[in-house]
Amino acid sequence: MKFFSFLLLFFFSLQNFAGNHPEWGPTGHRTIGDIAQKHLSHKAQKNIDKILKGYSLAFVSTFGDDIKSDSRYRKFSVWHYVNYPFGITYKESVKNPAGDVVTGIEKCIQILKDKNTSPQDQEFYLKLLVHLVGDLHQPLHVGLADDKGGNDFQVRWFNKGTNLHRLWDSDMIEKYNMSYTELSDNMVDPSKEWIQAKEQGSVDQWADEIHLIAEKVYQSATIGQKLGYRYSYDHFETVRQQLYIAGIRLAKILNDIYG
Ligand code: ADE
Ligand code: ZN
Ligand code: ZN
Repeated sequence: MKFFSFLLLFFFSLQNFAGNHPEWGPTGHRTIGDIAQKHLSHKAQKNIDKILKGYSLAFVSTFGDDIKSDSRYRKFSVWHYVNYPFGITYKESVKNPAGDVVTGIEKCIQILKDKNTSPQDQEFYLKLLVHLVGDLHQPLHVGLADDKGGNDFQVRWFNKGTNLHRLWDSDMIEKYNMSYTELSDNMVDPSKEWIQAKEQGSVDQWADEIHLIAEKVYQSATIGQKLGYRYSYDHFETVRQQLYIAGIRLAKILNDIYG
């Protein structure tokens, strides 16, 4: 019995070491879902409630990660990010034939707009869409291929080892120790004009905008650097802004499909 629990523990820790932590953590994704929920039209809200059987966008937002360990869904793992060099646009970049976060979002939208999509697929691709629009707005999900979007860029965070990617996925957010509702309730609502401007554009144009932020994120630290409060002061506003923009763009997409 003892031996088995040891084995179990061993394999679980192996999994943790082997896997990168490749998304906004749950708090980031749920914050985005909650912000989007507040910007849905009444009609979209009703249609989405039916498909998600009453579960909120925040609740289903982590689905994309939950299915990652299931080999049946392996083909979706490249849909969570896109990497291309700085100085060029997504359109100019060499595409992964297996897809990326831009084509993944476009595919979800296309499937959800199709009247012939089965109820099971509607639920599946809606949950995936909520997740992927979130991932797109984590700057390092639109980063460089060499270091896997900062996953191989080691830094120290309050004297613990981490990497630049994980810092932006979750370490900075977790340090605040706020729930997703606290985070989403404490967003200062910008003007209608600002929101409308952010809703404009295509998914690949959004990727290019986020790619520029990623370029700054790469310049924000050096390999092995010790980071702490100073880094949060300088960058947590960008995190909050990205969570907010992801939320309103997700709502825009969903209002277009279901509104
Ligand atoms: N794997 C390779 N590149 C990645 C990225 N930008 N984000 C997450 N996982 C990745
Ligand atoms: Zn993801
Ligand atoms: Zn990530």
